Amino acid sequence: MSRSAARTETFVHGIAGVALGQESRGVAKQEPPPLPPNAELSVIGKSVPRFGGRDLVTGAARFTVDIKLPGMLFARVLRSPRPHARIVSIDTGAAGRHPGVRAVHVLSEFAGAAAGASKRGAARALPTARYVGAAIAAIAATTRSAADEALALIKIEYEPLPFVVDMDEARQPDAPQVFAAEAAPKRAAPPQARSANILGPSTASFFGGPRGDIEKGFAAADVIVEGEYRTQVQTHCCLEPHAVVADWQPDGLTVYISTQDTIGVRDELAAAFGLPHNCVRVITEFMGGGFGSKLSADDYGEMAVALSRQAAAPVALIFDRSEEQEASGNRPATWQRLRIGARRDGTLTAISLLSYGTAGVEVGAGVGNVAQAMYDCPNFETAQYDVFTNAAPACAMRAPGNVQGAFAVEQAVDELAEKLGLDPLALRDRIDPSPARRAERRIGAERFGWQRRRPAGTATGPLKRGIGVAQAFWPGIVQTDSACEVRIARGGWVELRSSVQDIGGGIRTLLAQVVAEELGLRAEDVAVRIGDTDFPPGPSSGGSKTAGSITPAARKAAFAVKQKLFAAAAPTLGARAGDLAMSQGRIFSQAGPSRSIAFKEAAGLLKTSVISATATRGDNYGGFRVQSPMDIAREDLGGVQFAEVAVDTETGIVRVERVTAVHDCGRPINPRQIESQIHGGIIMGLSFALFEERLLDRHTGHMVNADLEQYKLAGSRETPAIDVVILENYQAISATDACGIGEPATIATAAAVANAAYNATGTRMRSLPMTPAAVLAALGRVPAAPFRA
Ligand code: MOS
Repeated sequence: MSRSAARTETFVHGIAGVALGQESRGVAKQEPPPLPPNAELSVIGKSVPRFGGRDLVTGAARFTVDIKLPGMLFARVLRSPRPHARIVSIDTGAAGRHPGVRAVHVLSEFAGAAAGASKRGAARALPTARYVGAAIAAIAATTRSAADEALALIKIEYEPLPFVVDMDEARQPDAPQVFAAEAAPKRAAPPQARSANILGPSTASFFGGPRGDIEKGFAAADVIVEGEYRTQVQTHCCLEPHAVVADWQPDGLTVYISTQDTIGVRDELAAAFGLPHNCVRVITEFMGGGFGSKLSADDYGEMAVALSRQAAAPVALIFDRSEEQEASGNRPATWQRLRIGARRDGTLTAISLLSYGTAGVEVGAGVGNVAQAMYDCPNFETAQYDVFTNAAPACAMRAPGNVQGAFAVEQAVDELAEKLGLDPLALRDRIDPSPARRAERRIGAERFGWQRRRPAGTATGPLKRGIGVAQAFWPGIVQTDSACEVRIARGGWVELRSSVQDIGGGIRTLLAQVVAEELGLRAEDVAVRIGDTDFPPGPSSGGSKTAGSITPAARKAAFAVKQKLFAAAAPTLGARAGDLAMSQGRIFSQAGPSRSIAFKEAAGLLKTSVISATATRGDNYGGFRVQSPMDIAREDLGGVQFAEVAVDTETGIVRVERVTAVHDCGRPINPRQIESQIHGGIIMGLSFALFEERLLDRHTGHMVNADLEQYKLAGSRETPAIDVVILENYQAISATDACGIGEPATIATAAAVANAAYNATGTRMRSLPMTPAAVLAALGRVPAAPFRA
């Protein structure tokens, strides 16, 4: 780990936007003006210690798994042991008679089978379990072990069906069908193509559909690179498991849950149980990561609520580690064929991407954003197919699709540079329209020592070192409907309230910094109360949109409540409210700064015990430029990562020795927290590149490594030295100009490691993970094992 704090560098490209006046940015008069660069601010842009950090390291922080309510019951879930089976009958009688059991719930889709023998014989109507780990029923009991005992008493009669867990096999015309035609997921269009398990193709991404003329583009190319790439299934492994405590009371439902979206969970559960929204309260105080796997209440949330209602007692449902890996979601496996054509000078003429991916019984295995939108290329086409398998559903996972897409695109660009005899950075300078990434390449190359790079495959001896580079592409997404309230009390305290949750990125600290900056206070003067749907509705924390969505609302609310405070203080200062300003804990008149009063004194002048203002983020200044299903605040959040690896060509072991990461996320609010996110992104990315892989037994459909012993995650010994530079990229698009970093931080890593491994060995690693066996096979030292996804 790097011991020094992250460096920040100011990026001049965007400064022009900041210098523009309020009116020319489309900022309404009643809103705060665009902020000057961080160097002129006192709290924003400083590495204020993380709010709650002490609680986290001392164990005082209360996570969902720590919630204990009087009379609380413990739930366990019965999951399908079969990859594909009709469920003929479910008998819960004996389980219900277990002395510890207080409630038994069968999922609604299987409730017919629980109704008894009358349904027998009606094969068409029988519910079907489609993967090992699919939830069927749940039990709440006085202890966890009683619940487990009772689960074992549930009798289920299965009628096994043929199944397929391998993506390549599922694509074959005679493959077992995962879905009968009428049962395919509702979101999906009718399956077409050769196998009923194949859905698609999708020919578009966030950034639109095909463009130009692909045939003409390739005809105009002097050089074409073409390659096939494969990536494996990476399972979610949040530090805190999926957990919920549901407390159904006559006057309403309270749900403690480890979630990335308190408001979304409230709305989901309210709809599922027919409750008005104001009768459902969702609370997430501290959270140990989500990475895309905790954006919904899912079936486990509904099970906990149903059990609580039935038992008239609070119910805790906490996944164990095997449930985490088998049933909490994953990153889909992919097969990609990527072709890129270019002229001698490097100008791109055509990009064509064909992909198949499997999200198990779900859809959403597309990978096209990076190929479509990172580089300038007039001709582009893509066809991306989803393949159904009898495997647990994938879900969003830190930069969904982009990690896999970048793995292919960034290696192809590396290959193209070599064919053209260009330095990979020089080629990117020609084809990458992003001025931020141009600056990042320059800064990173210098800090990393890129000039020491030698031609690929020239390292001598069995231990070969090499260096490589890759880039990140992520759309800067925001949620305009993101609100918070800022309150000032006569006692002189300041408090911010929003339902927004801290999923681990440290949004509490950012909110305090933004409010403190606006009010001329210190961050620690602001109490931050979040993660509770009784507060104004904040954003979900998916798509790296938390900071970009809620910090502008915080500044707007602080600005608005400040005007009320000025009105109260103006008579005492003998000034007009409009002339007042706040800094360093004092209020003074800009007309005659000699007179001032302390903030606490001003608060004491309030006529009511509390004043408050609530604000919503709203649109970007000047609106959004990209037509997209999402509000894309910036077309491009960047990042460039340089990696040095050592490949032991005798053992096949790849070690990532050091990484230099240069990233931008608009206005950096808290450099240390951003650095922490970048560390996490890199560790997760190299863990994906080298170690992690879900292994399904094709004869039983079971995951054979559903634990943290056989499923290898990068640990401290595999963590390289990480050098972080944060580029201040000002564009004056919102009241804070902040953007997210969580996802961009992990997109480039696997590709950078693969490019470095190529530089070391002269052999392309087009398949992940780069385990010792895979590396030895790529080097031609042992036969290749078949790829299984
Ligand atoms: Mo993210 S993968 O949208 O939490």
